[in-house]
Amino acid sequence: MQTSVSRPLFFCCCYWDGLVKSGSMARKVDIDKVVRQHLEMEQSFTGFTVKGKAEASQQREREDNMAAVEKAAELEKIADEVNQCRKCGLGSLRTNAVPGEGNPNARIMFVGEAPGADEDAQGRPFVGRAGQLLDKVIAACGLKRSDVFIGNILKCRPPENRDPAADEIISCLPYLQRQIELINPEVIVALGAHAARTLLNTNKSIGELRGQFHEYYAGIGRPPIKLMPTYHTAYLLRNYSPENRRRVWEDMKKVLVELDLPVPE
Ligand code: URA
Repeated sequence: MQTSVSRPLFFCCCYWDGLVKSGSMARKVDIDKVVRQHLEMEQSFTGFTVKGKAEASQQREREDNMAAVEKAAELEKIADEVNQCRKCGLGSLRTNAVPGEGNPNARIMFVGEAPGADEDAQGRPFVGRAGQLLDKVIAACGLKRSDVFIGNILKCRPPENRDPAADEIISCLPYLQRQIELINPEVIVALGAHAARTLLNTNKSIGELRGQFHEYYAGIGRPPIKLMPTYHTAYLLRNYSPENRRRVWEDMKKVLVELDLPVPE
């Protein structure tokens, strides 16, 4: 019998082992019967129940689903706050805020810089040309957009897609930090220098940072989250060389290996 709660089985095994070692067992023994009887006895003394593997995994699935529903509700609350936000000047310039979207239980979270014109028009992250290339990167990893979560450092578009200003990052970052804390991904992929530098609190260039895992600290007492910086897909579009494409793919392969996911050729 496959079991997931091992304490009674452990008692049972000791019992069985003891019997065999003491040589007091007849050779032909009905092991199922012995196990069953012992489990019944054990359960009546301890109250433990040994669950079948299928039952335990269904239970885990129910818990995951519940957690996902609660997380989705919390993420929705954050999105509502972002949509109302006027903490910096960008709030009055936007058509739509872009809170971010994706799987509340995502193992991978992509973080970009800030919405562009297409994202501002639709209120969704990475839906323009850079987004289409990100979709291709995700698909090349054998994943779907709905498997991951996609967010940005800034939730509103800076005019003319200029770089995020320090005060804008300071105002906006807590939204992303809360999203990361809730989703608790196993890996964050920081797209481009602004995302990587902000999340790692460093001034190093993306060339120096990319290609190796760094650690993102989501809160005191929580284990760090692995963070892989790579080139932003907008940069890749502007500099679409085989070397740069290979570099991004090398970075993503490391992410897949880290997550024990198959690495497509
Ligand atoms: N570039 C970003 O950094 N974020 C988006 O959402 C789109 C383009």
